[in-house]
Amino acid sequence: MDASKSGNGGAGWDARMIDEIVAGLADKPGALMPVLQAVNERVGFIPPDAVPAIARALNLSRAEVHGVISFYRDFRTERPGRKIIRVCRAESCQAMGAVALAGHIQSRLGVGFGQTSADGDFTLEPVYCLGNCACSPAIVVGDDLYGRVTPKRFDEIFFSVTSSRSSR
Ligand code: FES
Repeated sequence: MDASKSGNGGAGWDARMIDEIVAGLADKPGALMPVLQAVNERVGFIPPDAVPAIARALNLSRAEVHGVISFYRDFRTERPGRKIIRVCRAESCQAMGAVALAGHIQSRLGVGFGQTSADGDFTLEPVYCLGNCACSPAIVVGDDLYGRVTPKRFDEIFFSVTSSRSSR
């Protein structure tokens, strides 16, 4: 299997990396979840080509592994953008303008939820409460949490993120 460079802050991956992750966790009860979480975290997504090796190592069918991956929204099956933007869609944020904010962000990025911008810079994901309800509506850009985000405030954040990247 060829190594695959992520370019998104996640690691490239190859079969040996997957084997190492599985070997380190295979003895845990219910090893599939920790293995998938570790792969998702280290690589940035769960490469479809890694599923057969995971299934074989844990003595599961590919369908069982696919079933778990598709059930949990936190598991990605495609490489994410270099930055992930998460927009809270839970009740408190909805009540404070998150629907309009989400529409604005989607049109700014030119993508819907679950999609990555054509330049590979941003992936837009929904999230259901960021624990920041007192400052709704809330979003996360990369590792940074923002509250009371209006469309105008989002544009400022977006400009800051994109200009700091282009000045590197
Ligand atoms: S509902 Fe959005 S942060 Fe809690």
